[in-house]
Amino acid sequence: MTAAAVVLLMLTTGVTLGQESQSSQPDSTVPPIGPQEVRTILLQEDGTPTASSFARLNTSFPELFSFTVCYRIHLLRFREESTLMSYAISENRDNELRMDHRMTGYKVSLHSRWAKTLLETPLNQWAHFCMSFDHPTGEWKIYRDGELTDSGAFPRTEESLKGNGAYIIGQEQDSFGGGFQRDQSFSGEITELNFWSRVLDNDTIRKFSSCAEEEAGDALAWASQIWDIHGKVKWVVRQKDDICRQQKRAFTIFPDRFSLSEAIHLCQVVGGIIAVPQTEEENTWIYNESKVHDAYCSRGQSSYLWLGANDEKQERQWVYLVSGEPLSWESKWRGDGPNGGTVENCLVMLSGTFPGRWSDIACLDTYSFCVPCEFETRTTIYLKGPAMCEGSPFNLKYMLGENVGGRPSLVGFLHSDIYWDEERGAWVMRSLKNPDAVATWTPIQEGMYPLGNQEWTLQTEVCGIPHGGTVNLTLSVCGDGMFTCKDGTCISLKQRCDLRVDCPDQSDESECSIVDLPEGYHISIPPPASAENKTLPIYLTINIIAFPTIVTQDLTFIASMQLRLRWQDTRLNFLNLHDDRTLNLLSEEAVASVWTPRVFFKNARGNIFTNLERGSRVEGIRQGEARPGPPSRPEEGKYTASEYEIVFFPLQIHTTFMEYDISLSPLHDTRHIIT
Ligand SMILES: *[C@@H]1O[C@H](CO)[C@@H](O)[C@H](O)[C@H]1NC(C)=O
Repeated sequence: MTAAAVVLLMLTTGVTLGQESQSSQPDSTVPPIGPQEVRTILLQEDGTPTASSFARLNTSFPELFSFTVCYRIHLLRFREESTLMSYAISENRDNELRMDHRMTGYKVSLHSRWAKTLLETPLNQWAHFCMSFDHPTGEWKIYRDGELTDSGAFPRTEESLKGNGAYIIGQEQDSFGGGFQRDQSFSGEITELNFWSRVLDNDTIRKFSSCAEEEAGDALAWASQIWDIHGKVKWVVRQKDDICRQQKRAFTIFPDRFSLSEAIHLCQVVGGIIAVPQTEEENTWIYNESKVHDAYCSRGQSSYLWLGANDEKQERQWVYLVSGEPLSWESKWRGDGPNGGTVENCLVMLSGTFPGRWSDIACLDTYSFCVPCEFETRTTIYLKGPAMCEGSPFNLKYMLGENVGGRPSLVGFLHSDIYWDEERGAWVMRSLKNPDAVATWTPIQEGMYPLGNQEWTLQTEVCGIPHGGTVNLTLSVCGDGMFTCKDGTCISLKQRCDLRVDCPDQSDESECSIVDLPEGYHISIPPPASAENKTLPIYLTINIIAFPTIVTQDLTFIASMQLRLRWQDTRLNFLNLHDDRTLNLLSEEAVASVWTPRVFFKNARGNIFTNLERGSRVEGIRQGEARPGPPSRPEEGKYTASEYEIVFFPLQIHTTFMEYDISLSPLHDTRHIIT
């Protein structure tokens, strides 16, 4: 093992010397490592997609029959087709082996045949992947983090995976060693790429994944591979511990001053909770990350960060704010411990003479400090709104990322970012593919974050909205079946427009229109029939309630009745429809904007009677399961098929016999007579 490492160092020194004169080349020096360290190759660190970043294997690729390949990756961004590696053996055999970590799932190609899975690749976190292929049976197996997740079989073939081709990390080859496209590239880190010339069993793979055991690949071993790197690619040294360790608790510090209730709300809106360190290591990390802001956060005092615990219920019994459970760990306190008695029941971190220590403080909303939020798993933040049509330069999904301009940024899953621009005094949403595609939001107050529903200004045309136009965009962690309140709180979609206030800001009961008019909808054109040459069914029900008067010598009567008309308009989409139809009442404006059938009682005495104006109501009747609306909707809603029904309040007509027309349009009159 050590002998091999020495040889490798000598070899790579030679490579480095040879390349020093080419200044445009990246620094390809292979860094030395200690026993607890590993080398990784980092591609497209800044997240911008490019076709020029790749690493090409300069060691010959062996011919393989059965094999297992394992590696660890830390994915920074997805691409449309996130190609981690591709292997070509000739100009037109460019997909002999290819591995894509796409947002839609992990896909592997062998001899241009795909093993497709829905297996997710986590962002911003190390993960261990293996794939094995059994040549005699064609069977393939895919593992993530030591667990078998997918298996299947390729058609059987005598053919081997030929050696000596072009093996490339970071790009998909459309020709031998070239033909790269930026949407088929890789942004992230890779290490410990090993090929074994046999099928490894589940147990071995589990052990490799957890770092309980390691073994260099007999066909191709990471430590003895030589790579030529090009473009935005570099070697990085990592601690073995960091790449082996499973998901850790994550923290984000918001370096703005918030009252305690604002701090709790902010952490909740980004999908976490207000943090309480659970180890010395976490406490130190939070202190070190935030101490540069301590003077601002504390207004020059020593308390500067809210922490999420209190001892309100019982003095000196500190519990987590969110779970109510007792603390599992306490940091050193200032002095002898909490000293404020029953008056000081909230928790802060100190800086200055008591760096990283804790102190109790009164739970007053007049105090404001900065806040760390904690996350068991990193949450996805969704962007929704009219600028999110297909082809939008802005991504639909984000993660909290590094500070930019002094505040946490939101990192797009593919290639757009949202960050604080100090110079502009605005939040900026920018595409990394097209730097002109920018939208900005200027907070009315310093220290506000663009979460919830905000009005953004477009600095370029997006989705048909002109340059300079404004759009309301929603940024929230609310996923499927959730509604985002204006302030970013998530509630169940069932609570939307149910005549009960659920959002802290009441926004769930505003703009409760249930009809979504498509572009080009004409109120004067009746709905299309279900099939060609069919008529549009309109169901009419008349309930005669009474005949208050019958005048025999005139042969007339007065009827008191209730009228119902029911029809379907397939052009319309419906939002927020409830099972209880009485909650699905259309507003007057909505009724005035959709097509409705009309009824005329032609021979009624006095008025010829039409409808709508007189005491009627229009209800939507939910039919079938709802489906999610497109992300370009300004707010979430479920689209549902529906029928309409107009219900008229009791009417009286005076007539000899009832004759009525249902009018679809002037051209489509139909006459019906009831006697
Ligand atoms: C955004 O929402 C606000 C309030 O909800 C509204 O007044 C404004 O007109 C909306 N802006 C656009 C561009 O739709």
